[in-house]
Amino acid sequence: MKKRIFVRKARSSDREAVFSFCEKTWSWGDYVPKVWDKWLKQRNGGVFVATINGMPVGISHLSVDKPGEVWLSAARTDPKYRRIGVATAITRKCLEYAKKKGAKVARLVTASKNKAAQTVLKKLRFKPIAEFVEMVTENITAEISKKSRLAEKDRTKEIWNYLQSSKTYHKAAGLYTVLYHWFSLQKEDLKRFVEEQKAIVHENEKGEVNGLTLIDDTTARQWHEDTMQTCYIDGDYNAVLDMIRFLKSRCYGLGVKKIYGFACNHKPITTALEQLGFEPPDSVEIVYEKKLS
Ligand SMILES: CC(C)(COP(=O)(O)OP(=O)(O)OC[C@H]1O[C@@H](n2cnc3c(N)ncnc32)[C@H](O)[C@@H]1OP(=O)(O)O)[C@@H](O)C(=O)NCCC(=O)NCCS
Repeated sequence: MKKRIFVRKARSSDREAVFSFCEKTWSWGDYVPKVWDKWLKQRNGGVFVATINGMPVGISHLSVDKPGEVWLSAARTDPKYRRIGVATAITRKCLEYAKKKGAKVARLVTASKNKAAQTVLKKLRFKPIAEFVEMVTENITAEISKKSRLAEKDRTKEIWNYLQSSKTYHKAAGLYTVLYHWFSLQKEDLKRFVEEQKAIVHENEKGEVNGLTLIDDTTARQWHEDTMQTCYIDGDYNAVLDMIRFLKSRCYGLGVKKIYGFACNHKPITTALEQLGFEPPDSVEIVYEKKLS
């Protein structure tokens, strides 16, 4: 007999059942228990739970990031209840909720090797819009850079104009990432990165901007490590090489032990990162999008 799936907002009493079926999501476990309490208190979104006969059998998390865009994450179905429409039912509910909140677009990320997730997404008519890589290095050394510097506030407009005609910005679907969460990179985001001294620019011979790297240290605060990440990288091979040398030197001075190099999966960028000792990943991250009308 077909099992009836009911979807609702999560309650703290779901904790035990959810933690139990998340125990073996990946070989190392799952991050859901670490973020559960925070997610349940979240005002701009939350966790949705699917139940069968009153028992939690699946979850998904949603956050309303900016007016108009939502991010979905942590789709999990109890291995005993897979392939009966649980993830599909939760995602549909999340999209309904997102629409009610005024979202025009929903996005999420999955690894290229996660075929199950990709099939669910295809069935739900999500479209892959951009590919990213996470490359890591612990080889933090003082290096010489020639044409890179922290962006000054009065150059925000020039950087924004550079992005508008950048092929990489287009290839990255205009997105940047903090941790494993992708956001649209709009003018006000760029302004914030520049003001917080988290934007590195590269200049050509004429002093014009021809490269941009955005950085962030949320990983350090959330994961309690001496780490830094790149959120967005743009420029040709030489520009990227020079900006990342600048970043490495800065990290060296700050005592940062590890850099997570998140970037669009674009050969000149990934080759430059590899050249500077960043380990390539074994899987690509694909961001999917669904327009909500
Ligand atoms: C991905 C996951 C959430 C899917 O959950 P689910 O409840 O089994 O998904 P659904 O039953 O709604 O699947 C809908 C359709 O997707 C496809 N699908 C789902 N799992 C699949 C698999 N393992 N292989 C191939 N196709 C699959 C099928 O077409 C399925 O429809 P069908 O069974 O009628 O053919 C689940 O496998 C899971 O928890 N995996 C571990 C965590 C994970 O990878 N999360 C996603 C991170 S982005």
